Amino acid sequence: MQTRQAWIERCSGVLKGNLPDRSVLEKLPYRYTCPAREKGTYLPQWLWDSCFHAIAYRWFDPGMAWEELQSLFVHQPDEGPDAGMVPHMSHLEENGAVAAQRLFGQRDCSTITQPPLISVAALAVHQRAPDRGILARLYPKLRAYHDWFDRRRDDDHDNLVAIIHPWESGWDASQRWDGLMGLHPRGAAGLRALEQRRKDLVALCAAQGYDAQRLAQVPGGFYVEPADFNAIRTADLMALAEIADELQEASEAEELEARARAVRQAVHDKMVSFENGELRAHDLLGAAEEKSSVDHAGTFVLMFGQCLSRAEADTISTRLLDPVGAFATPYKVASTSRFDPLFDPGEYWRGNVWLSLNWLVWRSLLAYGRADAAAVIVRDSLALVEKSGFCEFFNPLTGGPGEKYGRSCPEHQSWSTIILDMLQGTADE
Ligand code: GLC
Repeated sequence: MQTRQAWIERCSGVLKGNLPDRSVLEKLPYRYTCPAREKGTYLPQWLWDSCFHAIAYRWFDPGMAWEELQSLFVHQPDEGPDAGMVPHMSHLEENGAVAAQRLFGQRDCSTITQPPLISVAALAVHQRAPDRGILARLYPKLRAYHDWFDRRRDDDHDNLVAIIHPWESGWDASQRWDGLMGLHPRGAAGLRALEQRRKDLVALCAAQGYDAQRLAQVPGGFYVEPADFNAIRTADLMALAEIADELQEASEAEELEARARAVRQAVHDKMVSFENGELRAHDLLGAAEEKSSVDHAGTFVLMFGQCLSRAEADTISTRLLDPVGAFATPYKVASTSRFDPLFDPGEYWRGNVWLSLNWLVWRSLLAYGRADAAAVIVRDSLALVEKSGFCEFFNPLTGGPGEKYGRSCPEHQSWSTIILDMLQGTADE
């Protein structure tokens, strides 16, 4: 087993190796880290990637962790219908991300968002390297982001927010979205067609003014209230309440906690069911809120927002460890159940292990005192990196690198350094 210091050095090497070019950094008010540099496609900044980066950086370079988070707000609009939104990709111009600029019709950033994890990350960094000054500057921006969700993405006022594009989920090509995307692909050609649909969908979003209510009705529109996304939002609102408390904004803290509780209750009441004695979480599809039957690892993330009772959390933790169950793979956690008819352990989001997701599941289990199951996630995550490096994602059956259309993924992916955070409390700390 490597020492914690050795892991810090390895993770630091990956992150520092993924900094943008100096000529790019010179133009930015804050530094960030590219998701990867190897394949040239991951040079801009991505929202939830930066949250994972910051949580890893806090262990050895908290200054960089704070910069990474501050950088996320450089392109937050402060006026117009989407005031407060945080784009899922930024700094396109500086990186010559021409295709993305064309797609989103803007020079600097995208027009959609990603899972709201920024308050969680900011609180984590603050706990390790307190800086009330930065926290106070971030706070109104973080609030504006959540206000934007309430205003623009909860059109049916059920306390659950909707996403209007698969990219917003962070699970781009998952089976979870096949039904709404109108394709059930297997193999490279089908997956490429699905990617083309995602690109085409941006134009439809733009044509409908990024209006969730309209996109829920229009033919070809995409509208989902995802279970894990809303659970992450619950956790993020709770973290924001703690930040408000830290800044001595007691009444705002109370209000934010109440908002978090309302989301948590809605997740529990509308998205959870028992099937054959097993707990399932359902994404709600379309305006009719049809309960999706796709079985995926986002279910475990419900615990991240503490959206389950203790008994329910025990049931799904046991399901995660079931040696013959849907998530019984040599390496955990496959994003999609291995019993899904379109489960594909190698292909991008069709049933792979992502260490970012493993971190969410690990934190989820710890929130309910399931140290036994959490330890399995840490063990498998470390084993994957030992075997194959800091891959973007992994094959849960072989432990090898994942693939996109048969082409292997980057092997120095920044967010896979999140394993550093999972080493807390291990014997060699
Ligand atoms: C892919 C992933 C997404 C991630 C991005 C950058 O698009 O699906 O979740 O944020 O890459 O790593």
